[in-house]
Amino acid sequence: MCGICGVVGNRPAAPLIFEALRRLEYRGYDSAGIATLVDGRADRRRAAGKLDHLEAVLEERPLSGTTGIGHTRWATHGSPNEINAHPHAVGRVAVVHNGIIENYEELRDELTATGRIFTTETDTEAVAQLLDYHLDRGLEPREAAFAVLQRLQGAYALAMIFADHEGLIIGARHGAPLAVGFGEGEMFLGSDSLALAPLARRIAYLEDGDWCVLRRDGATFFDVRGETVERPVQTVALMAGAVGKDGYRHYMEKELHEHPVVIGQTLQRMIDPVTRQVVLPTLSFDLATLPRAVITACGSAFYAGLIGRYWLEAEARLPVDIDVASELRYRNPPLTEGGLGLLISQSGETADTLAALRGLRSAGQHVVSVLNVEASTMGRESDAVLGMVAGPEISVASTKAFTAQLAVLASLTIAIAQARGVLSPARQQHLTASLLDLPSRAAEVFVQGDAIRAMAAIIAEARDVLYLGRGICFPVALEGALKLKEISYIHAEAYAAGEMKHGPISLIDRTVPIVVIAPSNILFDKTLSNLQEARARGGRILVFTDAQGAARLKDLAEAIVVLPTVDAFVAPILYTIPVQILAYEVALLKGTDVDQPRNLAKSVTVE
Ligand code: F6R
Repeated sequence: MCGICGVVGNRPAAPLIFEALRRLEYRGYDSAGIATLVDGRADRRRAAGKLDHLEAVLEERPLSGTTGIGHTRWATHGSPNEINAHPHAVGRVAVVHNGIIENYEELRDELTATGRIFTTETDTEAVAQLLDYHLDRGLEPREAAFAVLQRLQGAYALAMIFADHEGLIIGARHGAPLAVGFGEGEMFLGSDSLALAPLARRIAYLEDGDWCVLRRDGATFFDVRGETVERPVQTVALMAGAVGKDGYRHYMEKELHEHPVVIGQTLQRMIDPVTRQVVLPTLSFDLATLPRAVITACGSAFYAGLIGRYWLEAEARLPVDIDVASELRYRNPPLTEGGLGLLISQSGETADTLAALRGLRSAGQHVVSVLNVEASTMGRESDAVLGMVAGPEISVASTKAFTAQLAVLASLTIAIAQARGVLSPARQQHLTASLLDLPSRAAEVFVQGDAIRAMAAIIAEARDVLYLGRGICFPVALEGALKLKEISYIHAEAYAAGEMKHGPISLIDRTVPIVVIAPSNILFDKTLSNLQEARARGGRILVFTDAQGAARLKDLAEAIVVLPTVDAFVAPILYTIPVQILAYEVALLKGTDVDQPRNLAKSVTVE
């Protein structure tokens, strides 16, 4: 979603802002712009499309000035053209915004009635107009900003600069993240710590409802009532180098190759290497007495949750409800007080998941979040955070965060099962050993590159693809279909293999390849029967399986990727890796924008 950067400094701001926008590209965007104060007035450059377009505009007409704001826009209100691109400049102000101002029509009508003329289709222009209106009334920037914030409904992170006020930026946050970076004689504002990585290592996060006044020598934070507040300044370890491509063609390729390391690092954090026991952070409640769990998340993280449900039900015998966050937040289900509310999110900022978190909390659930960005809003609002150690995930399509989420959920399952007294020591040792063996098995998947590419060549020709899996591998099929859709733009659907004959079987012919996730587990024979039904109708079958499964499928399947044999408990983690690689290879063949697929945003901070 939209990215924001602001600089109040003592050197040209535009190049710093432009580089920060590059680091925010991963969030997804369709236009971009920068405004700086030049001779006391806001001057701006904007362009539709990629940052290269903005770069060309800046080369032709450079921007001087040491105070400025920049933005990558992911269109919500108004098409992604230059006119709607941020910053929006009105009279004496320029504004950038991430989020949605829900009452913008009401504000626009009021301001139009005072004679103001709107020139864009955006909700953000209402903020700029209202701010300028209050300056017209004689308010100082700080007073005007406070007056504006009291009128805004919806979600926003904002950055504002003011004519004749060099060295001043005002930022605000309500529902969309914003961070302040502390430099030497210069200060920065950014949507996240990645934007600020090479600029500032000391960072403070605004809390919901906060706003801040940045000057070259520091920041003052205010709460929703306008009272000054202190916000802790943290030193972040993240260095700019952590966000490079390291010689890979795409961030996605690099992040796919990080699966083994990320699984290993996450397990290292979750499992004591000596005792081989799962170690959780101190919890304010007892795992042994949890009546049930509700899991919620969006997109890929939701599929990780589906796998978590299989584990928690089968191993920990814990009843689990699960739903996508955009549905759960409005369902108002009856929940038993003292249950576990389990949220899963790479970014920790997804608007629907955050709203579901708040709903679960008010329904008396113990809120535990599985997060990659622990210093996120969800991190701050949870009773406990289980951190995955995936490092920055830049590619819009999630890859390594998914297997890291699974590593956390598998470990949590073992801990809950032990606490509930339903896991024998032998089974516990067996499950833990299968997890600790995973990083090595995951590294072996990459040997199958040629076989995966052969499968990709078949899929790249198709218009529709079916993904099938049974039991705990059904969510892996869902993840495979989602990844293919996202980055190759080929239509794909996933079904529980046993459901095929209840409908999707009518789709099967030579033009619809069927990708099957089929480790040789207790459901293998059932899957085999389903595949025979598909084959009898001319279906082209492409299988991910192990050596034993391959031997039984060799006459049925047109392409087979043979994966290392692993315990059924960890198979969904291992099988996710080649399924994601397959989507990547198809996207390469289709020539799409792998890291920034059209219309998608990395961190979906609007509803
Ligand atoms: C898919 C993908 C999305 C995210 C979803 C949730 O490749 O990246 O489906 O999984 O938007 O995002 P987080 O995990 O940040 O809450």
